[in-house]
Amino acid sequence: MKVETLIIGAGAAGMMCAAHAGPGVLVVDHAKAAGEKIRISGGGRCNFTNLYASPQNFISQNKHFCKSALGRYTQWDFIALVDQYRIAWHEKTLGQLFCDNSAKDIIAMLRAEMDKAGAQLWLQTAVSEISHDGSAFRATLTREGRSQTVTARNLVVACGGKSIPKMGATGMGYQIATQFGLPVIDPRPGLVPLTFSDEKFKPLAGVATHARVSANDASFDEAILFTHRGLSGPAVLQASSYWHEGEAICVNLNPKGDLLAALQSQRQSDGRKALTTVLAQHLPARLVDHLKAELPLDGNIADQSDAKLTALCDRLADWTLTPAGSEGYRTAEVTLGGVDTDALSSKTMAAKSVPGLYFIGECVDVTGWLGGYNFQWAWSSGWAAGQAI
Ligand code: FDA
Repeated sequence: MKVETLIIGAGAAGMMCAAHAGPGVLVVDHAKAAGEKIRISGGGRCNFTNLYASPQNFISQNKHFCKSALGRYTQWDFIALVDQYRIAWHEKTLGQLFCDNSAKDIIAMLRAEMDKAGAQLWLQTAVSEISHDGSAFRATLTREGRSQTVTARNLVVACGGKSIPKMGATGMGYQIATQFGLPVIDPRPGLVPLTFSDEKFKPLAGVATHARVSANDASFDEAILFTHRGLSGPAVLQASSYWHEGEAICVNLNPKGDLLAALQSQRQSDGRKALTTVLAQHLPARLVDHLKAELPLDGNIADQSDAKLTALCDRLADWTLTPAGSEGYRTAEVTLGGVDTDALSSKTMAAKSVPGLYFIGECVDVTGWLGGYNFQWAWSSGWAAGQAI
């Protein structure tokens, strides 16, 4: 069988590319359904883009690489498409756009766009023995127990990262890159809960508060959540993408910097109350109880001098913790690293050294923050490759 373009992966990027890559497109996926990650994303409502998406919201060894695709197919282009299909949406927080109804509306929209473009979709299809004979790619496709060779002028690799293997993530994109001599930046889990070896947070499981979490030079002001094994919540997930094994993170429990003034004022009004009781009006009581082991929290608030309160607030603003690890690909929302962008054209996503070979979406070394940015990268990079084909 001969096609113009073979796309491996019917996820966000693969479907978007298929809708724009012109005639003769075959999309193959080993999963039972297209867009499985879209379906489960955003709690079933798909955080499909972000109003404020810009290159600063992406992590890559080359921070300039994402600019071209993001600038040519923007969040506004995707919103216009969603509006064209009359899919109702709302902004939840921080520019994050979600479907009012269901993530399935986004999948149906992309499938309709693929149909309009005449793209074929083969599900439950295994891909093997990929090669290039100088003018075309060849791949063996196996479905329903039967194998056949397909020849394609273009090969688009859109098979995502390694996150959530139980949903079909394989890392095949990295293998294909390596096979064709393209370098791969070591993949690692991103947007992932962090774990602590000594189970020290076990009694705090379920406690949530607002904090600023920093890892390396990145800081995120959002909720944190204590889990049985460590820390999660948006601020921690965001920081996890900047964190490397062995490094410490800083949790600022006084992110607004207004705690000292509040404690000083309560020293006047509630002087006879225990410091822990007063602190528990600003932080979850179970967290205050936990902090007693680390911080001098004895006595009444009236007993605390300005110097003592200042020192306490400083400690709360600089709670340094060293995670033992992360929950890994089992729960990571994305995979950091991937196909080295030095080997790709930022305009077309084509491999510089292999004509007709494209890499799009999460398998490329471009990873977005939490909040709709990763889908925006899938739409933009998929569109850019589609235009070039
Ligand atoms: P994607 O993973 O979507 O698709 C890859 C496709 O390739 C899959 O269909 C897979 O079956 C197929 N495939 C893999 N290996 C194959 C092989 N060997 N042979 C054949 N097919 C193969 N982002 C966001 O912006 N907003 C959000 O709300 C969320 N929410 C979210 C929740 C959860 C639980 C997760 C795990 C992730 C998110 N994300 C997200 C991230 C987002 O889902 C992700 O970045 C995009 O789906 C990436 O799109 P891709 O098309 O690159 O890969």
